[in-house]
Amino acid sequence: MDRHPHRQIRKASPWRRSGSLCAIALIAILTGITPAFGQAILEGERFHPAAANHGMVATSHGLATDVALQVLKDGGNAIDAAVTAGFALAVTQPRSGNIGGGGFMLISKGDGSTPEAIDYREKAPSAASEAMFQDQEGEVVKNRSRFTHLAAGVPGTVSGLALALDRHGTLSLKQALAPAIKLAREGFIVPQRFTEGLEQARDRLERWPASRATFYKPDGSAWKPGERFRQPDLANTLQRIADEGVKGFYEGETARLIAAEMRRHDGLITEKDLKNYQPVVRSPVHGTYRGHDVYSMSPPSSGGTHIVQILNILEDYPMAESGHNSADTIHLMAEAMKLAYADRSKYLGDTDYVDVPLTGLTSKAYADELRETIDPAQARPASMINAGKPAPYESNETTHFSVVDKWGNAVSNTYTINFSYGSGITVQGAGFLLNNEMDDFSAKPGVPNAYGLIGGEANKVEPGKRMLSSMSPTIVRKNGKNFLVTGSPGGSRIITTTLQVIMNVIDHGMNIQTAVAAPRIHHQWLPDEIRIEQGISPDTVRLLENRGHSVVTNSAMGAIQSIMIGEDGTLYGGADPRRSTSSAKGY
Ligand code: DON
Repeated sequence: MDRHPHRQIRKASPWRRSGSLCAIALIAILTGITPAFGQAILEGERFHPAAANHGMVATSHGLATDVALQVLKDGGNAIDAAVTAGFALAVTQPRSGNIGGGGFMLISKGDGSTPEAIDYREKAPSAASEAMFQDQEGEVVKNRSRFTHLAAGVPGTVSGLALALDRHGTLSLKQALAPAIKLAREGFIVPQRFTEGLEQARDRLERWPASRATFYKPDGSAWKPGERFRQPDLANTLQRIADEGVKGFYEGETARLIAAEMRRHDGLITEKDLKNYQPVVRSPVHGTYRGHDVYSMSPPSSGGTHIVQILNILEDYPMAESGHNSADTIHLMAEAMKLAYADRSKYLGDTDYVDVPLTGLTSKAYADELRETIDPAQARPASMINAGKPAPYESNETTHFSVVDKWGNAVSNTYTINFSYGSGITVQGAGFLLNNEMDDFSAKPGVPNAYGLIGGEANKVEPGKRMLSSMSPTIVRKNGKNFLVTGSPGGSRIITTTLQVIMNVIDHGMNIQTAVAAPRIHHQWLPDEIRIEQGISPDTVRLLENRGHSVVTNSAMGAIQSIMIGEDGTLYGGADPRRSTSSAKGY
């Protein structure tokens, strides 16, 4: 097996190329070493991806990676493995893995056929209304969309994963659920991150007796690292799905338990809402970047649209020359990000309800117009930026894992219950947490959601509508073949996190583990600041401030579990070190 991480040889400028050659020649002369020394320079990577030849799985939890990898080893395909991982994460990582939430799956087959997206985003219950998160005076009641039963959208995960399996898998739903049921019933040894998460979310979870009983010991303490944690109610719910198919969730006992939970606490989801829930097969957003084809999530996610938009703006700049995380590079990225997030606030919403000018927003011509407004030397204050004017509407229209199998099929999946542990509300008797995805709607046009994202009319609450998302499961193809499979959690930061991994690979020639680990930056128009992770040098920050940027160092952003496929077919997995349980493994 090739032990060397795959590297992109980036296009170097003539001076850079001749400079490097001179340096290598000089070292060779001085040390008497043959040109093979060049290899040694390439070995200087600090982060190394997992490498394998037949299949690769990258998830945010080792147990989910293991069960999905076993599916691949047993002859299952990437879709089988992804669905198995999705259900396993609902057990091992209840803070984000879920059956009570929703998400998006991108599937790109090894045969080169057009990639497909499965939209299993939650929907507003039929009794939802535009002003449901406002008081009598029309002021937004902040926590109503976050920590009450009204916060929950109708969950989509079970039907989305089942649909993916039905369309492209070889396993039955029962087979894909078996490892999750075993993990829930027999329990698993909890890692430190599990205990820490439950301590952090204690206030939110303890308010609800079913959450308290599910996630803490009878004496109220959290399960400690090394102890075995079992979820019998969840095991029974998963078993009902295994026995009855999606009806085991959307009808019968599970649906009754969800509806009863809602009735007890003035929630809106009814048995009818559950029975009516349908996932949707959509076309992903498609763009190109420096000769690569980029496929990412279409509305009701904003992710793909704005990744393509930002890449279009940046494509005309010599980003490789500017260098990774230099002040020049960060400045241009931040300026492009601002423009995209301003457009997001105005135009993006569920295309089943509103017209979104997708072609306009993702066109190269519109990017050219936007680029014209960027000053390479000076930040433009967010207050001077409004949504642009893309070509008019066409007539129609958080946790991430990546899997690639031996046939070259790729799956990129991001799903979520929104906050860590979602609403904090466990369905009594069913053992799973409900999402608080309704906060992703704009509770009132112009009022930011929990991620500071401003939404407009296009994202107002309407019955049956899907709330706008930033989730960006992405697959990049090169010469028609799957090349990069990536995506991340992180709320509003998902778009920029995913963008940077794409650029780290394509522009900066990083191997996938280095691309995933590298410090990230983020700008979302409002607040008007570049948010950075630790690891960007203080003099770079000073240069950015000199150009008029406000720069704020904050906690780590995203957890981007990625796979890159080398030209010889070798699979490289990059697990994000920002999550201690992240795991990329192949065979
Ligand atoms: O759909 C969205 O954009 C958000 N609900 C995602 C939330 C998220 O990524 C939280 N994870 N860190």
